[in-house]
Amino acid sequence: MTEQKTEIIFNSQVASGTFLMGMRSPEIIAEAAPGQFVMIRVSPGLDPILRRPFSICGIQRDDIFLVLYRVIGKGTLALSRVTQGETLSVLGPLGRGFNLPEKGRKAILVSGGIGIAPLIFLAQKMHDMDILFLSGYRSKKEIVPVGWAGLSGIKTFISTDDGTIGHKGPITDLLETDISGSSHEIPFVFSCGPLPMLKRVAETTLEHQIPCQVSVETHMACGLGACQGCAVRTSSQVNRTYFHVCQDGPVFDSRSLDWKNL
Ligand SMILES: Cc1cc2nc3c(=O)[nH]c(=O)nc-3n(C[C@H](O)[C@H](O)[C@H](O)COP(=O)(O)OP(=O)(O)OC[C@H]3O[C@@H](n4cnc5c(N)ncnc54)[C@H](O)[C@@H]3O)c2cc1C
Ligand code: FES
Repeated sequence: MTEQKTEIIFNSQVASGTFLMGMRSPEIIAEAAPGQFVMIRVSPGLDPILRRPFSICGIQRDDIFLVLYRVIGKGTLALSRVTQGETLSVLGPLGRGFNLPEKGRKAILVSGGIGIAPLIFLAQKMHDMDILFLSGYRSKKEIVPVGWAGLSGIKTFISTDDGTIGHKGPITDLLETDISGSSHEIPFVFSCGPLPMLKRVAETTLEHQIPCQVSVETHMACGLGACQGCAVRTSSQVNRTYFHVCQDGPVFDSRSLDWKNL
């Protein structure tokens, strides 16, 4: 883990309210694994004072790591105004990422909205595997184009809540259809997105006894295990009461979390 001033290589809008930012840091890239995140001081000044957490979304050219983010408040708005050539303080990579399955296994990636960010990096690392990528959005205008990610050849399906493109309804519909339709092979499921979607993914995979890893988002003040602000309750299968999402996660085996109290 390093803390450094990191140069912005680009910061461009790619969909409604959504930006893709490239930051130069060979040091962070050397350690980064899919599912890990960085804490970014989103403006060169002290307002806002707290860093914001963002998943590492991919790597370009061996020296640029990517962050895909949606503008939802003060910090992400400030980030969207940062321009090429400026530097921001970045801490990372942080947390525990995804455990990759052995080669040859089928993987189903299920994202909701901006939850696609860590799964793009995961898909890049699993390019030689049989991957089905299911991405859900509220509407067509929020769809993140992923041509830059080098994921051609991966089977991809999209759903939208309003039916403007793809399947109309939650992306978990497509997960359930795929799992029910495949008679023999047990896939690995990896998911990131809003809590109700993650809960449904966890229920479905548990019901079919399919291994599932989820990336969970909580508010994070420090990202380092110091503030206790990111605690989530564990399930009865785990020999402790809480996990700290910043250190024990953000990626967890879905069976280890207490979904009723998240
Ligand atoms: C490990 C991790 C990885 C993340 N990766 C990404 C990513 O790749 N791309 C991305 O766009 N976002 C990601 N997020 C969420 C991102 O950190 C928040 O959107 C950001 O901190 C919001 O800052 P803000 O100042 O713009 O919003 P604020 O002004 O702080 O908040 C605006 C609103 O959003 C809510 N909110 C803020 N943060 C969260 C959160 N973490 N969970 C739920 N609600 C929240 C607040 O309660 C408030 O209602 C990640 C979060 C975590 C914990
Ligand atoms: S964010 Fe401070 S302990 Fe996790």
